[in-house]
Amino acid sequence: MHRRALLTLGTLVAVSACSSGTGGGESDQPDKVEVFSWWDGPGESEGYSALIAYFKQQNANVQFINASVAGGAGTNARAVLASRLDANDPPDSYQIHAGLELASDVRAGKVEDLAYLYERNGWLDKFPRALLDAVTVDGKIYAVPVAIHRSNLLWYNPATLRAAGIARPPGTWAEFLADATTLKAKNLTALSIGPGWTQKHLLENVLLGELGAERYTGLWNGRTTWRSAEVTAAVETFRRVMDVSDLETYGGDWQSALDKVVAGTAAYTVMGDWADAYFGRAKGLRFTADYDVVVSPGTAGVFNFLSDTFTLPKGAPHRAAAESWLTACGSPEGQDAFSVQKRAIAARVDADKSKYNDYLTTAMAAWQDPATVVVGSLTHGVVADTERNSQLDTALAALVGGGDVAAFVASVAAMFG
Ligand code: GAL
Repeated sequence: MHRRALLTLGTLVAVSACSSGTGGGESDQPDKVEVFSWWDGPGESEGYSALIAYFKQQNANVQFINASVAGGAGTNARAVLASRLDANDPPDSYQIHAGLELASDVRAGKVEDLAYLYERNGWLDKFPRALLDAVTVDGKIYAVPVAIHRSNLLWYNPATLRAAGIARPPGTWAEFLADATTLKAKNLTALSIGPGWTQKHLLENVLLGELGAERYTGLWNGRTTWRSAEVTAAVETFRRVMDVSDLETYGGDWQSALDKVVAGTAAYTVMGDWADAYFGRAKGLRFTADYDVVVSPGTAGVFNFLSDTFTLPKGAPHRAAAESWLTACGSPEGQDAFSVQKRAIAARVDADKSKYNDYLTTAMAAWQDPATVVVGSLTHGVVADTERNSQLDTALAALVGGGDVAAFVASVAAMFG
């Protein structure tokens, strides 16, 4: 990555004091491994199955127990996991986002230092420095990233735009709102939305598009004050965008929001690039012909990143098998197998580029372009810890439920400054 991008990301994810220490399961049975994730369901399971298949091929003697709990962005899974960890019943490995979400679990003493695995496998120079920083706390490395996803994407059905006489997808949120008026005249919904986490995913990208990369990043690290006319205006834009969504009738998870774009009843949806797995893999649609994508309005040249990682929880009952799982996660073969199906980019720098086609060609080019500015996702754990993310969820639910912008801004300002 470019120096500028690295610096930006470095400031996003730098974390300070925390706890550490080793633990480990008492009984070490290498014959099974229980892995906890939220990759269950169309658009999630294809990539995960490819990674599991690679693991099984390398570890024929280990029984793989797939303890996935469905629900986009891990909202359901995280709650189940928290109660298991509280009850001292950890799985052997669990999924978590790189960045401050991981740092929350490190601080709470839930996961082990994996620096020895990095050394054993020669991984220290195989991941971008900024990504390693996002899984490092006080010099210790607590997770193995499997892939990089992009959050700031606007998906659409080209046939719907053609039918509405819209020549190209919008480059700004003002253009998006103008499109919404055109679409409304044709009885079409401008934006399809899903549950709370997809609304937050939209919020982060409206803020990014309206405020720009630097001020967006500052919202989470205290360098941009929430108490400003610009931030209020950006939140008002978010509210206007929500007003032209199908909020009142949405149901299901992120996949249902995409279904409306496929069906042509809604023109656009803002979602991360796992959407490509749903459209292209689960639904068998053709990229650019049946569905297409641009960066979300106002974010040209910016890559809003997130990274899925796996950990070794303290007290994991099958530690040796968990290490084998993490080794598969960090391997070039495991990462390519996963990412090509999940429609992500391998986290490693030595991915086999020839395997990354269609949408992923663009994603990889953007990620590797020295001019790209990298910022971190709020919803997917990079720039805010678990506690502040959940406080923000409460404030956002109030706003979306009809609360006023000033009250929302005041409550978020109290969290982030
Ligand atoms: C994100 C996760 C992605 C994808 C998405 C939808 O949080 O990082 O890999 O699964 O949620 O569930």
